[in-house]
Amino acid sequence: MYSIQSNQKLKPFTTMAIDVVASNYVAINTVEDLQSFLKSSYAKPLYILGGGSNIVFLQDYPGTVLHIHNLGKGVMTQGENEVLVKANAGENWHEFVLWALSHDFGGLENLSLIPGRVGASPMQNIGAYGREIKDVFYELEAVEIATGKIRIFNREECQFGYRDSIFKNELKGQYIITSVIFRLTTKHHQLKTDYGAIQNKLASMNVNNPTIQDVSKAVIAIRESKLPDPKKIPNCGSFFKNPTILNEEYLLLKQHFPEMPGYVVSDTHTKVPAGWLIDFAGWKGFRNETVGVHDRQALVLINHHEGSGKDILNLSNEIVQDIDAKFGIKLEREVNMI
Ligand code: EPU
Repeated sequence: MYSIQSNQKLKPFTTMAIDVVASNYVAINTVEDLQSFLKSSYAKPLYILGGGSNIVFLQDYPGTVLHIHNLGKGVMTQGENEVLVKANAGENWHEFVLWALSHDFGGLENLSLIPGRVGASPMQNIGAYGREIKDVFYELEAVEIATGKIRIFNREECQFGYRDSIFKNELKGQYIITSVIFRLTTKHHQLKTDYGAIQNKLASMNVNNPTIQDVSKAVIAIRESKLPDPKKIPNCGSFFKNPTILNEEYLLLKQHFPEMPGYVVSDTHTKVPAGWLIDFAGWKGFRNETVGVHDRQALVLINHHEGSGKDILNLSNEIVQDIDAKFGIKLEREVNMI
């Protein structure tokens, strides 16, 4: 059963902590409730909220905000060196990662401490330190908003890309993810520790032969040192995507800015860290009365004093314009704004 509340404050449900109200709000605990809600004549438009870590509301929401709360996780099948693990969409992502680690299931350790919930993780193919959801993804279950019908999506059907999937493109606004199945390792874990930050942290922890738990501890320590805790300083993690530019453009820029980092991603393109661009342009630690740029990671915008969604939007626009003017690179937002 579910009940619909009117004029619900959304501030506690979003990590950017913007003070807005939803005309109607409903928390859903089961797939059956979700299906019956979708078949009812609810107030439209509909917004699906998970952990609220990737959304900035620009104004009060006029229709219905649907909060996915379905909990539960467990092993589906166990093979020789593999296990299929299912988690419902409402599970907290990091708690799920810790649960997998406590069972010695490998594959999620680099994705420790990412805010949000399981249901949103495939939406933008969350990633960190060289691992993305797509590397361990098996399939997901989703409910079609228009019909309430259940559909299973395999890895190919999700069309994963860098912070991207079919649910942000062709099927945007059409499905609600209700559970995700991951394929994890039980033995012979394949560690991904080639990121400099991870290597340095493991060395400082005096770890030579890291376990998946060690890698997770290193990732947690790195993230805690750079990224603000949303409970203390409201934020949405990386606000922009790292832009990909043509190799020729990168080489030209490198002549003017020899320190500019870049990672070759294909024969034709190079990825440049947006955090470096924003930092180099002088924005790191910038603050106006309400919002600003984090002082230890320039890719993160913060709401330090009751900022509105429009304050965040204005700051992000100023940064986009400045980066375009200085480097000729157009930054794209990773965070959704509605
Ligand atoms: N850099 C700066 N100044 C800054 C920030 C970064 O010079 O203020 C430079 C760093 O020195 C480094 C480069 O930029 O040379 C890359 O920085 P970092 O390793 O911190 O990673 P990132 O590219 O800024 C991405 C993800 C993060 C993820 C980290 C680690 C995106 C948009 N962001 O950040 O994801 O945790 O890599 O893999 O791809 C998130 O999505 O919310 C998120 C935090």
